[in-house]
Amino acid sequence: MHEQIKNINTLDELSALYTATFGKNGTMTARLKEMKNMDNNARAALNLENQTLRELFKTRQAEIENAVLMAGLKKQKLDVSLNTSPENRGTLHPMTQSLIEISEILQSFGYTPHTGPEIEDDWHNFTALNTPDYHPARDMQDSFFLENGNVMRTQTSAIQIRTMEKTGAPIKMFGIGATYRKEMDATHAPMFGQIEGLYVNKNITMSDLIGDIRAFLKRFFEMDAVELRIRPSYFPFTDPSIEVDLKWKNGRWLEIMGAGMVHPNVLRNCGINPDQYQGFAFGFGWDRLAMLKYGLPDLRDFRGNDVRWLKSAGF
Ligand code: PHE
Repeated sequence: MHEQIKNINTLDELSALYTATFGKNGTMTARLKEMKNMDNNARAALNLENQTLRELFKTRQAEIENAVLMAGLKKQKLDVSLNTSPENRGTLHPMTQSLIEISEILQSFGYTPHTGPEIEDDWHNFTALNTPDYHPARDMQDSFFLENGNVMRTQTSAIQIRTMEKTGAPIKMFGIGATYRKEMDATHAPMFGQIEGLYVNKNITMSDLIGDIRAFLKRFFEMDAVELRIRPSYFPFTDPSIEVDLKWKNGRWLEIMGAGMVHPNVLRNCGINPDQYQGFAFGFGWDRLAMLKYGLPDLRDFRGNDVRWLKSAGF
């Protein structure tokens, strides 16, 4: 009987034998009925055999069930190494990534972010920035004018005028946004992102300005030290005005930003007394900064909306 159980390979056969043994008319059932006529030894022996048989059935049942399961699994085996169609995951555009980084750095320096309208009036884009309409500096930036005399904002400096008009001094802010000029080559696009910092307070000097620029560039480009070249320049709204070049990893000097001490006329135009307050401002194209950081050759690709280009550039 023991051997017989062990040799059964299907649950049907096992259950048939079980019924033939322990069922109503089963062999063991019949023997157990005779137990009352047995002596103690025979009873103990029968009890033991009863127990052993039941255990054997149970064990064999588990073995067969397991074998059935394994055979089934083998048949429907999944090949988890097969290629699936690639998942098209989006990432943040490099322009957005660098914008987030830049504004996090500036905010950690205490500058608060501001925006403003992209269609500006003459006052905020030019006149308040010490650039009256006869001023030749209006030609420095080839502007897109609208028929009603408004202009597509040529510089985020307009945001500073709006903010200073509202809050007065002291103020530490930066403006972010799209700016527009009629120019187009590998390093200039007709629409580009500009960021401009402004700090107006008492006793602000040029060295505060250069200190913040240096700290900012160090953080953004993740450089241990930055070598800067400060060149005198001209902007109508700053005096003195400078341009800042950064020594790049390959040893070349790159023009990074314009900056300077806010012209007293600009403060006056915003209701701030220049005898009490001084300020500095710095402005740069954030497309350009992103382009340098990621080592990309053509600025126009940034706005080209070509996902293949973005992917090939590693984004
Ligand atoms: N607005 C200037 C430009 O667009 C940059 C600048 C900003 C210069 C702030 C000085 C101070 O060229």
